Amino acid sequence: APVQVKKICCIGAGYVGGPTCAVIALKCPDITVTIVDLNQARINAWNSADFDLPIYEPGLEDVVRQARGRNLFFSTDVDKGIKEADLIFVSVNTPTKKAGVGAGFAADLNYVELATRRIAAIAESSKIVVEKSTVPCRTAESMRTILEANSKPNCKFQILSNPEFLAEGTAIQDLLSPDRVLIGSLQTPEGKDACASLADVYAHWVPKDRILTVGLWSSELSKLAANAMLAQRISSINALSAICEATGANIDEVAHAVGRDSRVGSKFLRASVGFGGSCFQKDILNLVYLSESLHLPEVAAYWRQVVEMNEYQKRRFSKRVVDTLFNTITGKRIAVLGFAFKADTGDTRESAAISLVRDFVAERALVNIYDPKVPHEQIWLDLAEAMPTTPSATIQKQVTLSPSALEACKNAEAVVIATEWKEFKTIDWETVYAGMNKPAFVFDGRMIVDVEKLRNIGFKVTVIGRGERL
Ligand code: UDX
Ligand code: UDX
Ligand code: ADP
Repeated sequence: APVQVKKICCIGAGYVGGPTCAVIALKCPDITVTIVDLNQARINAWNSADFDLPIYEPGLEDVVRQARGRNLFFSTDVDKGIKEADLIFVSVNTPTKKAGVGAGFAADLNYVELATRRIAAIAESSKIVVEKSTVPCRTAESMRTILEANSKPNCKFQILSNPEFLAEGTAIQDLLSPDRVLIGSLQTPEGKDACASLADVYAHWVPKDRILTVGLWSSELSKLAANAMLAQRISSINALSAICEATGANIDEVAHAVGRDSRVGSKFLRASVGFGGSCFQKDILNLVYLSESLHLPEVAAYWRQVVEMNEYQKRRFSKRVVDTLFNTITGKRIAVLGFAFKADTGDTRESAAISLVRDFVAERALVNIYDPKVPHEQIWLDLAEAMPTTPSATIQKQVTLSPSALEACKNAEAVVIATEWKEFKTIDWETVYAGMNKPAFVFDGRMIVDVEKLRNIGFKVTVIGRGERL
């Protein structure tokens, strides 16, 4: 029969583990949830008296305020967390491998393996171990092999795959009312029992018909597939945006018309300067790697093109800026508004803004960056990583981090909107215009400005997916 879960441990207090388990604690007052991490600074931040949490996510602070100290705890004592739990989420990072076989494509499973081995070494009673990190297919199988090879008498492990579909910026909303919860298990009686135990946890607040139970491998592949297909929609619309710019059609109108077909659907058709985030590119490259390992080169090529289109979109946008500014931006000041990979997050992983700034710096422009949430140290780190051969003194000389959008735009020749932060929709453009060099250009990579209004003020406006005259 299914075990009733009383204690949950989550290994990894990051973007996935933190919000997910905080919401579980909020919704399941009868379950004790302990989130553990090796990173002391991160745990300190989760525990900070003034709720200065390590990640920014609308609504998260409120959830943590309600549950922390009640049935939600954060700790660096990984072993104690493992020992006490009936169910363990493994929610550690799975970055793309930087060296060795599959470098640049395959996921680095070192962290998953270390965490799994720790569970095997420390556990003194049976556990349900839940793979929560995004990992390529069959990781659960490797975790199972490690756990089974190390299980003691009275100490059995059941492995589940429970991929997380939350998007950053809307994580709490997504967790509170998910489209679906997916749980994969072995189709054995024990596997199905473990699956039922986890389903009961979610059933505290998720309607039963939204909890899907499938095989272990289907669950893992579904996560990669969901992200690949979402990214593919963006690359498709971005490919069409290039046609619009070359012909005078308007991508907004095209996307609207296409999205009205209920078979296509209207969501995720916003043309942009390119998708970013920790998942899309990584997961597609995983799918490419998986396809190649399975000797399916046509399938690999198909998915790879989604990432290539995204790279093209970013390059194309920075080239359009240079072309429009009379083919040179050397010594010109460019304001880049937004550095996060999307609005409502401080996360910059794979952000299109990084590529844009790198290109502008390479063209020897002066760049002012403003983002309402990204910490300054993070911007410097990202730029250093994006330009490994450029001396940091050069980067520091060409790049300025500004305290506000207005400040960033002062004395600039051009304003580039890279992230769709709400506050950029209400910028005082009259004041911005007065402070800029003329002609003053605006490049909207997120389709958020009122083009007519800006043109009336005097701006030359270029919008992604629009080909008409400035
Ligand atoms: C994504 C998936 O949405 C989520 O289900 C999964 O669990 C993790 O990966 P996330 O990366 O947090 O979530 O954000 P998402 O909203 O999907 O945006 C990803 C990127 O695509 C952002 O850079 C965003 O600006 C861009 N995007 C999104 C577009 O350019 N156009 C769109 O229409 C939608
Ligand atoms: C299509 C468009 O649907 C329609 O809007 C347009 O006006 C004309 O082209 P049609 O070709 O008549 O219509 O049929 P459709 O139902 O779209 O199917 C096209 C092909 O796709 C068929 O061979 C169908 O079997 C196949 N298909 C469709 C799939 O293989 N899988 C699906 O999920 C859907
Ligand atoms: P994600 O976006 O997948 O949540 P993050 O990098 O934000 O990824 O978070 C993963 C967290 O997992 C990091 O804080 C890292 O310190 C932690 N971590 C990695 N390996 C282990 C481990 N073996 N034990 C405990 N925590 C770990």
